[in-house]
Amino acid sequence: MLATQDDYLGEIADAALVIDGDMVVWIGRTADAPAADTALDVGGQTVLPGFVDSHAHLVFAGERSAEFAARMSGAAYTAGGIASTVRATRAATDDELRTNLEKLETELLRAGVTTFECKSGYGLDVETEARSVRLARERTPEVTFLGAHVVPPDTERAAYVDLVCGAMLDACRPYARWIDVFCDRGAFDIAEARTVLEAGRAAGLDLRVHANQLGYGKAVQLAVELGAASADHCTHLDDADVAALASSATVATLLPLAEFSTRSTYPDARRLLDAGVTVALATDCNPGSAYSTSMPLAVALAVREMRMTPAEAVRAATRGGAQALRRDDVGRLAPGLRADLVVLNAPTYVHLAYRPGVPLVAQTWRGGTRMT
Ligand code: NIG
Ligand code: FE
Repeated sequence: MLATQDDYLGEIADAALVIDGDMVVWIGRTADAPAADTALDVGGQTVLPGFVDSHAHLVFAGERSAEFAARMSGAAYTAGGIASTVRATRAATDDELRTNLEKLETELLRAGVTTFECKSGYGLDVETEARSVRLARERTPEVTFLGAHVVPPDTERAAYVDLVCGAMLDACRPYARWIDVFCDRGAFDIAEARTVLEAGRAAGLDLRVHANQLGYGKAVQLAVELGAASADHCTHLDDADVAALASSATVATLLPLAEFSTRSTYPDARRLLDAGVTVALATDCNPGSAYSTSMPLAVALAVREMRMTPAEAVRAATRGGAQALRRDDVGRLAPGLRADLVVLNAPTYVHLAYRPGVPLVAQTWRGGTRMT
């Protein structure tokens, strides 16, 4: 089965797809397929567009398994753990950060991810934030400046916000497409988030927001008001938040691996979908709240815990992610779009949720080249 995620092409049985260079040039029934130089028969397996991971924090050093173990013994997740990754990241060389980033990119490819976003946010000084976005830009065009992750220790809040909006933004903007702010308890308040996002926009960056992860608040509504591409997490939403999202083009990016790893209540995707909100699923891969690159597990959790159907979850992990990144060349398979695709060792994508934790991604193709 070929599940294109394209409204016109839909799902095709006995399908064939022709690639030329890095592009898909034909899709249809095998019986009608034009001749090609080389042919590959994947038998009765399932083909999907490559997953689009629109939220990941991949430039960091160290790991926080002790913090995870403490949580599993009852400790709560707080934004405070970020400081320990900041210490390790500042101390790391470019090559150490690059090696870790490339290791995680390889994991993402094996999990079927062909497009990923990558945030800074573990430097929190001008030099390390600039290094972070520069290294991220070596691996992906979807680079996000997240100097406003938390206020670093021993730093005065207002002075730090000034730094983020001034010298840090100047140093990072050449490498970044997006600016993000962690607007939540223990991180930045609404006024600070607005200041950071408006400075980023004035510098030519587009907006995304970490919103309503740890508690209720006005971050989702700020994201909508400012026209952010995405409000991410959306774990705690009231009716006004859902209505704001539904009346906007802002995508709600849900990150169930974070709820899994922080033992938190999952966001209610059904409520968002029923209200007409565009939903994306992403990994949030980071060493604190979600140290996983598994988009298939995110899909399984979304189905099991967030009341999404398998078809909705796959759509959110492909086309939804592309919408959250304002990309129309990926997340969908159709002639003229990028040849980014996965082959699942399963007769249907339903198996992503039906067979959780099983490594079903048999092949990942990026830009017409087989990567795994
Ligand atoms: O998206 N919410 C903020 N940032 C990350 C976690 C950061 C950390 O704990 O290192 C997140 O979950
Ligand atoms: Fe995050």
